[in-house]
Amino acid sequence: MSTPLVSLRDVHKRYLLDDVPLDVLKGVDLEVDAGEMVCVMGPSGAGKSTLLNLLGTLDLPTRGQILYEGVDVTAFSPRELARFRNEKLGFVFQFHHLMPEFDAVENVMMPGLVRGVPRRKLEPRARALLEEVGLGARLDHRPGELSGGEQQRVALARALSMEPKLILADEPTGNLDSATSDAVHSLLFQINETRGTTFLVVTHNRELAAKMPRVVTMRDGRVERDERRDLPTAVQGQDGARPISPDDGPAEPLAEPSDEPRDGPAPEALEPGADA
Ligand SMILES: Nc1ncnc2c1ncn2[C@@H]1O[C@H](COP(=O)(O)OP(=O)(O)OP(=O)(O)O)[C@@H](O)[C@H]1O
Ligand SMILES: [Mg+2]
Repeated sequence: MSTPLVSLRDVHKRYLLDDVPLDVLKGVDLEVDAGEMVCVMGPSGAGKSTLLNLLGTLDLPTRGQILYEGVDVTAFSPRELARFRNEKLGFVFQFHHLMPEFDAVENVMMPGLVRGVPRRKLEPRARALLEEVGLGARLDHRPGELSGGEQQRVALARALSMEPKLILADEPTGNLDSATSDAVHSLLFQINETRGTTFLVVTHNRELAAKMPRVVTMRDGRVERDERRDLPTAVQGQDGARPISPDDGPAEPLAEPSDEPRDGPAPEALEPGADA
């Protein structure tokens, strides 16, 4: 058996509110393999977003381990965590946290700028990613000049920009109409299929859940059910979706970034919630 992409081992999260403890996660065990599409469901307050924040290393568990490819990231320093997030994870949250003063291309370039990747490498790639999510005609628009679904697609393109292994999405289509949601969902499957990106998606959307090969249901801080099923590809809405050509990728690798952020904003400016 190969090492899972991510393993949660007996993860607990306790919040203290006015010194009163609130146990939000009560021992979560979960393994996700590279390339999986996992949907997390469950009633409001079950701890889904808390779990996603821990997986995204935006918060630390009170107890337990979070291993990425066998390495416990809960032991990382804040600086190591910032770098880990930037390189390995992509975030798509319900309120997209795009930077309002920058246009679509710049927003997609942002994680790379933070890593010190030169603009000349980032820009063509950002444009290609925006084309890929169907926004080729909106490259110069700022978030305020885009619809909700378009903003969500910019967030997805941005999440893809550093070629993360895992994309964490918290109700990515929670505020979209059903046609736009369907389009964004198809895009997730298309990216999974063509790039092998792993997705962990929290959703209340039953149509999306019905298409997902694995559904984890949480209740009261625990995993209540973990179902896997084989679904025909057609169910996932890939019929008719434009296949992404391998030529769409970067002409040369993006690697060799320096350790230090150079001309971008501070890493924390990119994290979900930073501009909320
Ligand atoms: N920072 C915090 N301090 C105290 N309690 C918190 C904090 N964050 C979340 N909680 C509580 O933890 C519980 C789980 O919250 P969480 O956001 O994980 O739920 P959820 O499953 O994502 O729900 P929803 O479907 O409504 O988004 C809730 O009862 C919430 O009030
Ligand atoms: Mg939530």
